[in-house]
Amino acid sequence: PQGATVAKFAELLGVAPNDVIKRLFMLGQVLTLTQSMSDDLVELIADDMGRKVRVVSPEEEYAVVYHDSEADLLPRPPVVTVMGHVDHGKTSLLDAIRHTGVVESEAGGITQHIGASVVEIDGRRITFIDTPGHEAFTAMRARGAQVTDVIVLVVAADDGVMPQTIEAINHAKAADVPIVVAVNKIDKPGANPDRVRQELTEYGVIPEEWGGKNMFVEVSAKKKLHIDDLLETILLQADVLELKANPNADASGFVIEANLDKGRGPVATVLIQRGTLKTGDVVVAGTSYGRVRALVDPRGTHVADAKPADPVEILGLSSVPTAGDEFRVFADERDARKLADERQLRERLAAQDAKAHMSLDDLFSRI
Ligand code: GTP
Ligand code: MG
Repeated sequence: PQGATVAKFAELLGVAPNDVIKRLFMLGQVLTLTQSMSDDLVELIADDMGRKVRVVSPEEEYAVVYHDSEADLLPRPPVVTVMGHVDHGKTSLLDAIRHTGVVESEAGGITQHIGASVVEIDGRRITFIDTPGHEAFTAMRARGAQVTDVIVLVVAADDGVMPQTIEAINHAKAADVPIVVAVNKIDKPGANPDRVRQELTEYGVIPEEWGGKNMFVEVSAKKKLHIDDLLETILLQADVLELKANPNADASGFVIEANLDKGRGPVATVLIQRGTLKTGDVVVAGTSYGRVRALVDPRGTHVADAKPADPVEILGLSSVPTAGDEFRVFADERDARKLADERQLRERLAAQDAKAHMSLDDLFSRI
């Protein structure tokens, strides 16, 4: 892949080619009309000529900055991730939560087939993401995307702080996400919740009752003790955050997981962060695109739309995106395909250890 030729550059900027050659020469670059300029040179010479130009990758070019006015923002449910050391009871706790939450008890213990679930308590919803420590989180965090609003840190009362407990704390700190501590297994004979509190202070996780800012709840996932307390505490924590989103916009969010389903084709579970996703919408998710054929909620029910903080399966994509990919609705199917194609191309080029550039034509046509 090449940058623009001197001639093309001059044409796009509407300047005399000779002037460009002269300026290049002053910088010690001897180039002819048909030779290509590097991205750096393009930016430098343009700047020299009083024009602000930046050569961008397709990713950047399509990276949108959403702007919602205060009036557009409505309260939304919290998105919660359960983390903790191996065997401290994350899965058991999620199971207990699902059986406590109204939505799931209605579902009658249907096996979760997507990596997220929605629980309702006192008429308020909480979205749980089931795949903690998932590589998707790292990918999303690298993009500065905040996917989870609250982290529930599960610590077994008979085992205390362990390596993955500390890892989870570090993850929460890096993402600037508040931690609610679920001190689990309090039914066990060796349980010592106060020792857990004590140990956690070393890592800056300090109970409110000790003057810190972390809420603690003692639970037993196995005996289903104080699960309501935990849910209410999560909602209290969410209240402090005043979580809001604009539901009246084209949807965008992140892919939580994706796979190829024998019967249904590519299936992506996405978390809606903004807007409302509807069947029939055209979406791009990573290098994949398509028209939404169906939306399926965590209970396996087909739904017409999905709103902020909703996890939902998308059917109808051209291929399987990657967990952590951003997804976005496009008004124009051609734009969607173009972006997906460009990303695919870029991936292929990257695979060939080459650097792909967007053509300058495309760049300047947007200035
Ligand atoms: P990984 O997914 O392997 O990291 O484990 P996990 O954190 O999901 O733990 P899991 O829920 O699988 O629980 C591990 C073991 O602890 C299982 O044998 C559970 O039955 C047991 N367990 C979980 N919660 C409790 C509890 O509240 N009390 C008691 N006594 N046992 C529990
Ligand atoms: Mg588990």
